[in-house]
Amino acid sequence: MKQKILVAGGTGYIGSHTTVELQHAGYEVVIIDDLSNSNRDVLDGIEKITGIRPDFIELDLKDKEGTREALKAHPGIKGIILFAASKAVGESVQQPLKYYRNNIVTLLNLLDLMPEFGIEGIVFSSSCTVYGQPDELPVTENAPIKPATSPYGNTKQINEEIICDTIHAGAPFKSILLRYFNPIGAHPSAEIGELPNGVPQNLIPYLTQTAIGIRKELSVFGNDYDTPDGSCIRDYINVVDLAKAHVIAMDRMLENKSDDRVEVFNLGTGRGVTVLELINTFEKGTGVKVPHKIVGRREGDIEKVWANPEKANQVLGWTAKETLEDTLVSAWNWQKKLRERGIQ
Ligand code: UFG
Repeated sequence: MKQKILVAGGTGYIGSHTTVELQHAGYEVVIIDDLSNSNRDVLDGIEKITGIRPDFIELDLKDKEGTREALKAHPGIKGIILFAASKAVGESVQQPLKYYRNNIVTLLNLLDLMPEFGIEGIVFSSSCTVYGQPDELPVTENAPIKPATSPYGNTKQINEEIICDTIHAGAPFKSILLRYFNPIGAHPSAEIGELPNGVPQNLIPYLTQTAIGIRKELSVFGNDYDTPDGSCIRDYINVVDLAKAHVIAMDRMLENKSDDRVEVFNLGTGRGVTVLELINTFEKGTGVKVPHKIVGRREGDIEKVWANPEKANQVLGWTAKETLEDTLVSAWNWQKKLRERGIQ
């Protein structure tokens, strides 16, 4: 058995997939989640896949005393992966204080408590949103950080700065900042996946809900961008591939494989795909048509962004392996599973 890891936000979309991969790798996982954007059934899904039910504590990580008690009750945690955060870009514009409070207080509490409990490293869930519209593509980790276009994006930048400043001031732990591109898809077992609340704001859940008939039509936001077919370009990364990178990052920190106390990695495929290409790939892979129409641009959208993932490829020895088609089929299988369960 490897060490014990706290997965903060472990019943969420990326957190649950990462819990599975940590367990596969032999880590013991303790999850803290307040279930504000997920539910307890996710624990059943994890257990079905790995045969191990992770320890679970329902707790809001803004509660510092509660978090201290939870860490006391689960001694020996060596590393933290921090997913727990609010993540809806649009909502963050409407409710900035909710985003600043949730996303910043949670991090401050964990960083404060880490030395007290001898926790050696924290992997932080960041985003390519920190690059805004990059001047050069594909974007590397050295690209300038652009002014954030939403409070959500700002919290990712501020969190990265808080971690760097704390470690530069001599805090006794390490950190790896992982900048995700667009995570999509579901576990191939269809036991866990993305479960959006209400009307999905992101492309894939909206697309799969349209394909299954919950939504009438997918709106494609703009076809007049400077891209081959006019729709926006993103780098869609399979969620299981993404989860595996967290395991490698945790190994790297706990085994002291680097002298750098903070490292940052892009996690993407290196391939940019337009919205229209993605719809075609989905239709080809699943044989299911997706009714869609072109509408105007969505405010605040980046025209095109995709990763240069070479640093993660070379330094972490991690590469995104799944094809876009297989990943979209996994998202579809998950949508069908939700229907079977009568959830959506
Ligand atoms: N899109 C549509 N129709 C939809 C939804 C999305 O055409 O109904 C398009 C968007 O315009 C965009 C692409 O699909 O071109 C992807 O949109 P998403 O909302 O799925 O993802 P974003 O790239 O806008 O945002 C995501 C995460 C953010 C994160 C950001 C980093 O949702 O949390 O990536 O770039 F900050």
